Amino acid sequence: MKVLGIETSCDETAAAVVESNGRRGLKLLSNVVASSMDMHKVYGGIVPEIAARSHIESINPVIKQALAEAGCGWPDVDGIAVTHGPGLGGSLLVGVLSARTLAIIHKKPLYAINHVQAHVYASFITSASDKLAKDYKFQNEVPAFPLLALVVSGGHTQLVLFESHFDYRVLGKTADDAVGEAFDKVAKMLGLPYPGGPSVEKLAKKGGSRKFVFPKARSRSQGMHTDATQGLGRYDFSYSGLKTAVLRAAQQAIGENHNFPSHKLARKLTEKQKADIAAEFSRVAMETLVDKTMLAYEEFLPKSVVVAGGVSASPELRRQINGRLPIDAFFPDAKLCTDNGAMIAALGYYQGKYSSPTDAKKLDIQPNLSM
Ligand code: KG4
Ligand code: ZN
Repeated sequence: MKVLGIETSCDETAAAVVESNGRRGLKLLSNVVASSMDMHKVYGGIVPEIAARSHIESINPVIKQALAEAGCGWPDVDGIAVTHGPGLGGSLLVGVLSARTLAIIHKKPLYAINHVQAHVYASFITSASDKLAKDYKFQNEVPAFPLLALVVSGGHTQLVLFESHFDYRVLGKTADDAVGEAFDKVAKMLGLPYPGGPSVEKLAKKGGSRKFVFPKARSRSQGMHTDATQGLGRYDFSYSGLKTAVLRAAQQAIGENHNFPSHKLARKLTEKQKADIAAEFSRVAMETLVDKTMLAYEEFLPKSVVVAGGVSASPELRRQINGRLPIDAFFPDAKLCTDNGAMIAALGYYQGKYSSPTDAKKLDIQPNLSM
């Protein structure tokens, strides 16, 4: 069974084809991503109108290329999977309308995919066609259930416990900013390019952690709490306090008070100060993720742990998780951590196997969809 996955929830127009690989999960046949990132970089973040327009320009060529690289024609495709939420309304609309049209014209079953859940399914891809194999690194087996997933991206930070593919519960999520979003905002303060994750981490290597002191958000069950963390559950996250601590520390470091505008900080901070801030911020942000993952691991003793989403590409997060978990965690290949069509196709494959398709005449976008 071959599934075409289509993803347009944010700034990546992506399409991919996966096929079943028996008990060993899924095989990647193609993975095409066209990003409008360069256009957004100028503004330091995603501009929804630019993203939507560039999806319209890219969607047809990207789908065509994904089918061609997989060596497939429409008769070979057994189903179409498309992200219908969460994401930017205008962006989602392009993918959903394209997928609905293609499903109707070519008479294919259509699967409506939750983007956040799909990030976890990048780890169910365990091999690739000969053509792609040299460009990707896979774990050989699929993750076993019960499965604990840490989903960390620009829009989401959550811990989810899966008993099986479609029987899961969200243990905790962020009360405010997503971890990737916090990286993006701190990058902006330090005058670093968007996306913030890779640029903050690169600078952090030149700095010493502990030169600045930033607090970790504590949940109620851990005792201490600040205004920002009031009411945080045991597995919830909060990044607004850390982001404000970074702002205050940077203002103090240049001898200014809390009224000093954040967009002028980068010009006054020395390279050394920036690197030290990046290092401590990165350490605390990642340690918070790992602390909660460990807490959940010890309580639920899952058979596997999957780390997914854009931030799971971080070498620092991988190092910390591998250093503390007693089992090997699943991390997708870096190219499958950020948004892509392969993870959408992968979840679509399991939806096709275990549930019925959606109505191609009716599928609507759900920008605020949650797991
Ligand atoms: O999953 P993704 O592509 O999009 C969303 O669904 O949000 O994640 C994008 C986020 C950005 O915030 C970016 O800063 C972060 O992932 N990111 C990283 C790394 N690569 C991307 N964060 C830390 N380290 C990285 N290497
Ligand atoms: Zn994503």
